[in-house]
Amino acid sequence: MTCSRRILRLARFGLTPILCLGAAMTAQAGTRIERKAFGKTTSGESVELYTLSRAGAATVAITNLGGFVVSMLAPDRAGRSADVTLGFTGLSGYLADTSYFGCLVGRYANRIAKAAFSLDGKRYALSANDGPNTLHGGPTGFCRRLWAAKVKSGQDGDALELTYVSRDGEEGYPGTLTATVVYSLREDGGLVIDYSATTDAPTVVNLTNHAYFNLAGEGEGTILDHELQLEADAFTPVDATLIPTGELRPVAGTPFDFRKPVAIGARIDAADEQMKFGRGYDHNFVVRGSPGTLRLAARVVDKKSGRELEMFTTEPGVQFYTGNFLDGKTLGKAGKPYLKRGALCLEAQHYPDSPNQPAFPSAVLRPGQVYRQTTVYRLSVAK
Ligand code: GLA
Repeated sequence: MTCSRRILRLARFGLTPILCLGAAMTAQAGTRIERKAFGKTTSGESVELYTLSRAGAATVAITNLGGFVVSMLAPDRAGRSADVTLGFTGLSGYLADTSYFGCLVGRYANRIAKAAFSLDGKRYALSANDGPNTLHGGPTGFCRRLWAAKVKSGQDGDALELTYVSRDGEEGYPGTLTATVVYSLREDGGLVIDYSATTDAPTVVNLTNHAYFNLAGEGEGTILDHELQLEADAFTPVDATLIPTGELRPVAGTPFDFRKPVAIGARIDAADEQMKFGRGYDHNFVVRGSPGTLRLAARVVDKKSGRELEMFTTEPGVQFYTGNFLDGKTLGKAGKPYLKRGALCLEAQHYPDSPNQPAFPSAVLRPGQVYRQTTVYRLSVAK
């Protein structure tokens, strides 16, 4: 007899079906994933949408086209839920996306100068798509690819595994790279993104997720009054094309000092050359502590709604970007315009242009090695 039938039967006699309640609770433990059709690509391939839910965690929808985080629903201090990530209502928006609204960026996230690098004495030419530089893996990076999806079930419930095989020479990168990303929800409510990759020839790799957050809800004005704390004592200043100069500059005494919580808008218009180059914040921060160790990198609080976002990562750096290229022309999921500075990104990463900067932590991956990175975004209500 099923639990629900037993409940009905016992209820008729006024009895509490304790065993059934226990079973129901066990069934609900951990993460549940629901899958539905999300549409078809222009070449007719089916795309799916996976919704991850778990008690006490944000509800997160992810598509296997580009691995985009399509929505993240989280309550405010009064228990009212809002979608705190920017994106689109349907697949067509993602197929045309140019802002990387929550996708899996690769093979090399952020910029590589002059769209070229040398490895083991050989020069590789990449596709330039950001002035003279290559950005986010080139014009057809991992965000624009269809990933193979699998729902994996374990003791802690379901997890979504996405795999993409990037062929040797794709966008100019050497080696066939097999990238796997597992999205799961942790017991404490964190969205965990576990990346791994292997290659059959020496290459460079830098994978990230490009989620845009507005803790008041997507399309709800700007993030200038959100308070940010960044666990970084230094950042990597850039030239006018946003390529790091190679310097690690202390944040002390600059608008880049977020060691204590500060409103994002407090110094964003400061007369500072770096702020001018970035049109706001668009810089890599050196995360305190040891790369390879999952540690707190950033905390953001929206005092009005009470929502808080914590970001943990194993990566050496985090790109803090304040949506400076948004211009109000894109309408969001609720039909509201995505304004300049209408969201913030905290992109876990190797420093930009590492393949050309020997002093930066290496982004080289060789056959036999496994690239790994873990990042957690945890939404909660601030205490
Ligand atoms: C990153 C870059 C920005 C911008 C966005 C996407 O954050 O550093 O300059 O390209 O991606 O628009």
